[in-house]
Amino acid sequence: MPHYLPVSRVARLVGVPRGVLQNMIKEGALDTFDGMIELEELLSKFPDVHWQDEGELEHVNAIKERAFGKRIFERALPDKEVLAERLYELGREFASAKSLLRHYDQVLDWLSQQLDDLADASGTSSSALHSLKQRLRRQLEAVPQEADRGRALLAQESVMRMMSAHVVVQPSGHEFFVEGNDTLLEAALRAGIPLDYGCSNGNCGECKAKLVSGQVKKARPYDFVLKEPEKANGTILLCSYTAVTDVVIEAHVAGAEDIPRQTLQTRVRSVEPLTNGLLALHLFTPRSQRLRFLAGQRVKLSVGDVTGDYYVASCPCEERHIEVHVRAAAQAFADKVFGELHKEDSVTLTGPEGSFVIKLDSRRPVLFLAWDEGFAPIKSLVQHVMSLEMADSMALYWVSDRLPHYQENLCRSWADALDNFRYQPLFAQSGMDAVIEAIFSGHADLGHCDIYAAGPAGFLDAAKAAAMTRGLSLLGFHSEKVE
Ligand code: FES
Repeated sequence: MPHYLPVSRVARLVGVPRGVLQNMIKEGALDTFDGMIELEELLSKFPDVHWQDEGELEHVNAIKERAFGKRIFERALPDKEVLAERLYELGREFASAKSLLRHYDQVLDWLSQQLDDLADASGTSSSALHSLKQRLRRQLEAVPQEADRGRALLAQESVMRMMSAHVVVQPSGHEFFVEGNDTLLEAALRAGIPLDYGCSNGNCGECKAKLVSGQVKKARPYDFVLKEPEKANGTILLCSYTAVTDVVIEAHVAGAEDIPRQTLQTRVRSVEPLTNGLLALHLFTPRSQRLRFLAGQRVKLSVGDVTGDYYVASCPCEERHIEVHVRAAAQAFADKVFGELHKEDSVTLTGPEGSFVIKLDSRRPVLFLAWDEGFAPIKSLVQHVMSLEMADSMALYWVSDRLPHYQENLCRSWADALDNFRYQPLFAQSGMDAVIEAIFSGHADLGHCDIYAAGPAGFLDAAKAAAMTRGLSLLGFHSEKVE
């Protein structure tokens, strides 16, 4: 009986980023059926992986931890009741496999008896029938070489299914895992997928979604906004329900235009010098609130009557943490940050604004281009794309003009940790033509790529012109003027 596994779970089992498997599928090196990979296919394409090796299983998470410089996948046990239901589901599968085996046993006995009867009826001591029976028995007793590896893989996959449920979002095709006690909404946001929501506590109904397949369970006490007919037709609240088994849901992924303007009272977590005249301001939103925003967007910060506009440099997947880069003397707010702001001080945040955001339905290779502090929105975009595991490959080019590459170690750690990520620092002193040549010399055909560029107008114009001559479509160039 064929056994199919979702690509995301296979990526975790094999210990490679999902993009690597997607590339193999695209190139015809790995067969899939309806987005799933068959066990035998997996065993044949990854003959060297030791499934029992915990290190391999943790490999993908380790990549992300290194790349983000922090632990983003806390390995928490699911709620007792969810665990019990997952055990029950697994038990049911086990029971049906056992009963199927018993049935096969009976069919074999019957077949054996039929062969004996046939030999008797034909009146021959048919050695041919006897040897057929022998061969049948030998075939059944011969354990195929792959059996041990197959068993280990299935055992490991069963443990994974106990610990986390896999979710597919339709029609966008996004995938994520629900770990620990997370609701579907919390897990999606942690994975960087901006599913639509409002209050996050069961009151507004904006997170309504449809359960297409699988089993969910109420993990928070509120779902009062759901009417009985809605419940009956499979409508759920993402902020209230968690996944018991692997599920498919129909849910709306929010774009920049869907996200409302919010005002939050944040607190300063730290003020970190990045380089001469540039600071990273790290803020925390209140415990029960997170800022809804998309990577690449801006926020307005104010203390008293002093305000400033900044790109968010952190990833939307980072829950309550907001990072912005503040350049000295650029705005009145900067004087406040450089002179007076301390840990635990209150900063009012309003936003988000802007439409320089990632195309969430694209799985194409991505080029990120940043000029000086145009790096802030690009950093957020890079981390968002990494958390979504959506791009086939990523290349980051960061041009230093007035500022050095002030978070270069981070960029290098991304390149070290991810096979499909390339980083190249560049210098404006070499001249615009040389910068553009350095960026595009390795990209002869940009017909199936997306470019996200943030920097001064002259740089954006030159990059766009060069990209177009290499086949980039007009819709593939996304830019933000950062002077
Ligand atoms: S977000 Fe308001 S009900 Fe779920």
